[in-house]
Amino acid sequence: MRLLAFLFSALALLPPPPFDVAGGVTVIVNGVVYTPSLLKNKSVFLSGAKILKFVDSGAATDSLVSALKAANVIVKQVNADGGSIIPGLIDPHVHANGAGGEMGYGSRTPEAPLSELIKAGLTSIVGLLGTDTVTRGQNDLLAKLKGLGNDINTYMWIGGYREPGPTLTSGVQADILLIEEVIGVGELAISDHRSSWPSNQQLLATVSDARVAGLLAGKAGVVQFHVGSANTLLSPLWYIVNQTTIPITNLLPTHVTSRGPALIADALRWNKAGGYCDFTADSDDENDTLVTLLSWRQSSADLSHVTLSSDAYGSLPNFDSQGRLIGYGVGSPMVVLNTIRNLIINYSWPIDQAIQFNTVNVANVLGLTSRAGFLAEGGPADLVVLNRMSYLVDYSFARGEVLKTPTWVQKGMFEPPDKLTQRFGHRADEI
Ligand SMILES: *[C@@H]1O[C@H](CO)[C@@H](O)[C@H](O)[C@H]1NC(C)=O
Ligand SMILES: *[C@@H]1O[C@H](CO)[C@@H](O)[C@H](O)[C@H]1NC(C)=O
Ligand SMILES: *[C@@H]1O[C@H](CO)[C@@H](O)[C@H](O)[C@H]1NC(C)=O
Ligand SMILES: *[C@@H]1O[C@H](CO)[C@@H](O)[C@H](O)[C@H]1NC(C)=O
Repeated sequence: MRLLAFLFSALALLPPPPFDVAGGVTVIVNGVVYTPSLLKNKSVFLSGAKILKFVDSGAATDSLVSALKAANVIVKQVNADGGSIIPGLIDPHVHANGAGGEMGYGSRTPEAPLSELIKAGLTSIVGLLGTDTVTRGQNDLLAKLKGLGNDINTYMWIGGYREPGPTLTSGVQADILLIEEVIGVGELAISDHRSSWPSNQQLLATVSDARVAGLLAGKAGVVQFHVGSANTLLSPLWYIVNQTTIPITNLLPTHVTSRGPALIADALRWNKAGGYCDFTADSDDENDTLVTLLSWRQSSADLSHVTLSSDAYGSLPNFDSQGRLIGYGVGSPMVVLNTIRNLIINYSWPIDQAIQFNTVNVANVLGLTSRAGFLAEGGPADLVVLNRMSYLVDYSFARGEVLKTPTWVQKGMFEPPDKLTQRFGHRADEI
């Protein structure tokens, strides 16, 4: 009886056809490929964790499929149905193990469920701690990222709001050099009432440590700065770039559209000086990021130096001018894709321009270009198929494994079953 129940649940865990057969080659047809540059009329062949080949649609695809089948290779065909085949999105700011707590212990936010990240089109995330670096810890964050890392690609910022922030080993340099996931420091708070008000000298020492360790480890060694609403704006960062020869691209300020026009203006100066800025994507009742993107596109801003992030599973506290908490919420990973969809659907942005913020741009600033943000033959098979009409995720693949189909999504082990499909979301061979 138990065995039967086990077999039954194991079957229910499988993705729907054509994915219920192990191995082989997957070919995605009838899609429009963005590498993110537009590749016309190509099918995408995936094998193992890599993209095998882009092949012309029609006869060339049919003959390769026939040849593979003749060689007894299992070929799984996915119909993109006119949708866009784009690189899996990268979100550089996810509170994967929860965060928040600004309204007391009961307001600590939940951990990220795997399936919610997948539905948001993400195949790579960078996890981090925020305000609370006491009850939230680096060990817990790293373990959570390693767990998610069974299915998607996970990286980590070391530190948190405070300076010096908590580390995994003896310090920032050792963590970047010795822990594979750690690519830099963040989110270090400046110009915010919740920061530890670090001196310029303290910030400089940390930026310098991150840069040197990055050079030694072949990583970006970037410091991501949480920027608050104080009128000091980006001046702590200007101090570093004005006083030293550290490249401006080693510093990545975030939330720059969320604090009003003065910070947006300073961010534009930063952009014109060659710096990158990260914009927190708008939640339902906001449009600051949308408005800034539309206006920067009209100005001479360099959009290739802009990235978007979700702040997912972080709290969204709202303080009034007296510092009183007047609102509270939790971030969703969907906001990034929703901003991209809004640009495409409502503002007619070409798809390659709308997706750059979470593909090439973020891969460039975070030093991930060989691992994420592009589609290329021989490159990682991390891609999503966006629906032709809604631009929501129909299919997702990371390292060549299917994570989502139109009727199924991979779930973490203890996520509740999906009512719609009655599937639990774990591949049978992993139980
Ligand atoms: C490429 O696709 C377009 C639109 O789907 C189609 O009109 C065109 O005939 C295709 N070209 C080739 C060479 O297959
Ligand atoms: C840094 O340099 C810029 C331009 O050279 C200047 O506008 C700004 O005031 C300087 N800021 C600081 C904090 O040194
Ligand atoms: C953004 O929101 C403001 C205020 O709610 C509104 O006046 C403005 O039209 C909106 N802009 C866009 C581009 O949606
Ligand atoms: C497009 O604009 C409409 C009207 O403002 C809005 O309701 C809808 O959510 C927008 N679409 C997206 C994908 O944001």
